[in-house]
Amino acid sequence: MQENWIKTIQLDDIPEDDVIGINVEGHPIALYKVEDGVFATDNVCSHGRALLSDGFLEDGEIECPLHQGRFCIKSGKAMSEPLTHDITAYPTKTEGDQVFIKLG
Ligand code: FES
Repeated sequence: MQENWIKTIQLDDIPEDDVIGINVEGHPIALYKVEDGVFATDNVCSHGRALLSDGFLEDGEIECPLHQGRFCIKSGKAMSEPLTHDITAYPTKTEGDQVFIKLG
């Protein structure tokens, strides 16, 4: 696993109060931009093969588009049925307009 900060996209590339799917060194990652800052989780739902970046972001939770399971975007914690497994949340930081993520 990569231990260092990895440069991803520009802050402006993430729509306000929304999510975007990116690929970071082969890992599908969902990047969220909300009032509190930028957060990152796995982009693939732990319940099936749906992409969370196709889902609906509200109140700090991302709703999976397939069966409407919800995850906390800060912790990756599964918040509702039918989810039984959390996803991983990753540290992020911004420097100027650049967003970095740590996968390790
Ligand atoms: Fe995400 Fe079922 S695939 S809730």
